[in-house]
Amino acid sequence: MKTLTIALAKGRLAELSIELFEKIGLDCAQMKEKTRKLIFNDEKNGIRYMFVKASDVPTYVEYGAADIGIVGKDTILEEGKNLYEVLDLKFGACKMCVCGWADSAVPGGYIKVASKYPNIAREYFSTKKNQTIEIIKLSGSVELAPLCGLSEVIVDIVESGKTLKENGLAVLEEICDLSARLVVNRVSLKMKKDKIMDIVNKTREIIK
Ligand code: PRP
Repeated sequence: MKTLTIALAKGRLAELSIELFEKIGLDCAQMKEKTRKLIFNDEKNGIRYMFVKASDVPTYVEYGAADIGIVGKDTILEEGKNLYEVLDLKFGACKMCVCGWADSAVPGGYIKVASKYPNIAREYFSTKKNQTIEIIKLSGSVELAPLCGLSEVIVDIVESGKTLKENGLAVLEEICDLSARLVVNRVSLKMKKDKIMDIVNKTREIIK
């Protein structure tokens, strides 16, 4: 039996991904134990799970180190890898937004935009707004940037809106809706079609 390798994004989406796999009858018991292991084998079903940093999931899948991945649409857009996006899993729903001081508007002209998503930010400002900006790439706590004058606005994920609100910021413009997606390596889809489609079809039924 061909083993199928699935890359799961560590963090927010991991627990929801495990829940989904349990619903379609896969054995995820080992993954729920408190451990620092990164690879888990479900020998009965011939599946290997790997826990990968969210931003690296598209890379593992593009190169075929993983056949399938579960990752946020934000990461897919930012990384721009060559993969099949097969299903919208509907969980992990949030929005990519331009945010800044509450009760203000996005300034025109050459502004500084801080983000963990430089490609999404650049694309939005250049294509949609025809505005040349300076991108300041940050790795987290992006909301700090306007608060300390590092940038005029940020491009970031907004889920509950709590982080913005507690820091006196607000959504100024919405860029797009986001959620978790099931992605598949292009070669794997041909070579391990039956097994992959079995998972895709069962998952599609669950999220209906
Ligand atoms: C994300 C995002 C926002 C926050 C939004 O950060 O970058 O900061 O969550 O969530 P909310 O609207 O529910 O408040 P994350 O928690 O991943 O941490 P980070 O800032 O260290 O990247």
